[in-house]
Amino acid sequence: MAALSVSAQQTDMGAPITIGELLRKAADGVDRVDARWLLQNMLNVDAAFLIAHAELLLSVEQVAHFQRLLARRIAGEPVAYLTGKRGFYDLVFEVTPDVLIPRPETELLVEVALSKIPLGRRCNILDLGTGSGAIAVTIARHRPDACITAVDLSPSALAVARRNAEKYSVENVIFVEADWFTGFTDEKFDVIVANPPYIAEGDPHLEGDGLRFEPSIALVASNNGLNCIHTIIAQAPGYLKHSGWLIFEHGYDQADISRKLLDKAGFFHIFTRPDLSETDRVTGGQCESALV
Ligand SMILES: C[S@@+](CC[C@H](N)C(=O)[O-])C[C@H]1O[C@@H](n2cnc3c(N)ncnc32)[C@H](O)[C@@H]1O
Repeated sequence: MAALSVSAQQTDMGAPITIGELLRKAADGVDRVDARWLLQNMLNVDAAFLIAHAELLLSVEQVAHFQRLLARRIAGEPVAYLTGKRGFYDLVFEVTPDVLIPRPETELLVEVALSKIPLGRRCNILDLGTGSGAIAVTIARHRPDACITAVDLSPSALAVARRNAEKYSVENVIFVEADWFTGFTDEKFDVIVANPPYIAEGDPHLEGDGLRFEPSIALVASNNGLNCIHTIIAQAPGYLKHSGWLIFEHGYDQADISRKLLDKAGFFHIFTRPDLSETDRVTGGQCESALV
């Protein structure tokens, strides 16, 4: 494996190698699934091809390219950045280091949001902190009659989100560069969804495998990780229709405080849902601001 994980000069680059042999050597240094996925993407083939063509000889250039990918993976770079894509819900999204890699737990946020957006109705939806556009584009595909506004502070993230909307020919999403609600005056939404940054500054996880490659604007919030959640809860009532929903993702230990903040801001029907690992992950409530 050493030959595959270090620089090209140190490897036996003159000798072509078969797919099977390459994957066996790679598995000494990186996760077996990661190695397969990287090779699949590099060769633009599916998993079955790798199995069926284990004896296929790869070119010296292909081996060298794969070695470079492995070296980056070994250095901790997430597979999604190396392949430039990540599956989310039922779609595959382009990702770059400008955006957070969409997480499986965020699929719960989409699921809950979809349960509040009836099919066939022209609802107005706001996605705060859209990043790759994973939430906005997925909702747009599942609710073609809804009109989704996707906001982000990062122009480079919005560029990725726009490409993802184009990739799926989604025409019911508009993208707005803004600091949370500052892009709006009179608009009112039926549902506001958000996956804001919620990790505390200095949290040791930020130095761990993967996270240190992701943009800190997507991860970190002041006030012990709660600053963005505070802002969104405090301002959302001004932008929700009568009985509109605010639904957002938060950290594993932020459900209680999120519910308290919603209660204080006048929300009702407040709920929290756990993700697949039984961690409280999504909290929401209905706004009564327009009742008065
Ligand atoms: C946790 S990421 C979520 C990305 C995407 N929605 C997802 O779930 O994969 C948070 C996003 O919020 C954006 N963001 C951070 N601060 C913001 C602000 N003040 N206003 C708008 N967006 C902001 C970041 O650029 C980032 O794209």
